[in-house]
Amino acid sequence: MEFETKNNIEEEKLQFYYIELLKEQVNKFIDEHSKVPTAHIETFGCQMNARDSEKLLGIVKAAGFKEIDSENADLVIYNTCSVRDNANQKVYGRLGRLSTFKKKNPEMKIVLCGCMTQEESVIEHIKTSYRFVDIVLGTHNIYKVAQLLYISYIGKDNYSPMDEDEAGKYYWHKNMLISHWDMTEKIVENLPIERKYAYKSGVNIMFGCNNFCSYCIVPYVRGRERSRDPEEIIAEIKKLVADGCIEIMLLGQNVNSYGKNLKNPISFAELLRRIEKIEGLERIRFMTSHPKDLSDELIEVMKSSDKICKHLHLPLQSGSSRILKAMNRVYDKEQYLKLALRIREEIPDISITTDIIVGFPGETKEDVDETIDVIEKVQFDNAFTFIYSKRTGTPAASMEQVPEDIVKEQFDRVLDCVQKTAQNQIKKMQGLILPVLVEEVNKQDENLLTGRLSNNTVVHFKGDSSLIGTIVNVKCVDYKGFYYLGELV
Ligand code: 5AD
Ligand code: SF4
Repeated sequence: MEFETKNNIEEEKLQFYYIELLKEQVNKFIDEHSKVPTAHIETFGCQMNARDSEKLLGIVKAAGFKEIDSENADLVIYNTCSVRDNANQKVYGRLGRLSTFKKKNPEMKIVLCGCMTQEESVIEHIKTSYRFVDIVLGTHNIYKVAQLLYISYIGKDNYSPMDEDEAGKYYWHKNMLISHWDMTEKIVENLPIERKYAYKSGVNIMFGCNNFCSYCIVPYVRGRERSRDPEEIIAEIKKLVADGCIEIMLLGQNVNSYGKNLKNPISFAELLRRIEKIEGLERIRFMTSHPKDLSDELIEVMKSSDKICKHLHLPLQSGSSRILKAMNRVYDKEQYLKLALRIREEIPDISITTDIIVGFPGETKEDVDETIDVIEKVQFDNAFTFIYSKRTGTPAASMEQVPEDIVKEQFDRVLDCVQKTAQNQIKKMQGLILPVLVEEVNKQDENLLTGRLSNNTVVHFKGDSSLIGTIVNVKCVDYKGFYYLGELV
């Protein structure tokens, strides 16, 4: 299938038109209720979803909704995650609670979108058990949220689709509007976005994943890999910088394979080189890097750059070559170790973090010994450790599962080891004076500010809130767990 990488201007225009139509519905609401309708978006899961939520919020705010921090709103959007089963269960639990708000406010609109709703089985479950949901849309078509809200407000009896093509994009199930998760994979740029932070932002550089790791549902719910046009990415970043952003996080499921499917292919390292030249941009982060695609060119660029942060998230998943093969990760223990240790050697002040899954089908204590061996050798600065979660439709779901009690025991061993290496690493910064991007007033103690070092370590220190969004030098005085208490210098 051919994928679009350029902005689809027709779709962009159409969606601006729907924002206008939705505005009319909002004005009608204001006339009838003498108040502005409120909206609340709840994000589950990864950075990709966080960025999608900013897009959703941008659109509904442009249509006239007012954002509130409560689910007792006139519009609630759940942007869901399905990477592990507990994420799905959390959403079902929360939906139950939402129904009580809807009973009190029957005009309330409930929208479900994100990875969960790309699964047919989820859609069927919503149709039968959560009939009060108004709109279900997936991940590929969140840019259509104004269109679907507009259609939902005027109701199925009053709406006649403008053309046949449009009619095929969704269907009604009673009063629930379900958007067809078509895989045309349009990229639609330039719609309104409401950023959570003024000084930093995520920037999608690609969507989807082609890797089909045998445990993972992402390729099924986010579709095949599509890279955005580099010119569009650069233009977006320049605009962000002009708006006051000094840090960007380039987002993609596997950023190291960026650009391969473009008409004029370019490498991720080359994209970084171009982004680096943007004046006013101070920090560049990216995630996630698949070890199999990490190039020498990228290491070179990271090494020589002042702007690329000294942090690499490099998911290991398992240290056992046997399990890595069953996971379809396309590298083995030795290759991972060689790569990670080389990066440590070339860029000594880099932090390397990782993802680890414990309890993959067939995993034995000996396999976990191998994982622990890698953790100790690489001395990860931090790791997200996950218990394997069976995802229906993935190859691993039909393999022989490991009993729960064994998984728990092995998980604790891995966690314990990660905590030790993280302590070893954080210790090394004690006494150093390092630049910190000040992010916010500390949530627990309003006398403190919270920021991040280039290597992603969180630092809390005393300072004035006017420093938020600037880079200041802080002495790393004392570490507690995974963060530092520091002093402004
Ligand atoms: N079970 C547990 N963890 C998973 N991940 C992805 N799929 C699963 C699964 N089925 C983890 C991987 C990935 C991270 C985002 O989530 O470690 O890197
Ligand atoms: Fe999932 Fe593997 Fe793709 Fe990451 S690289 S999103 S783990 S399939």
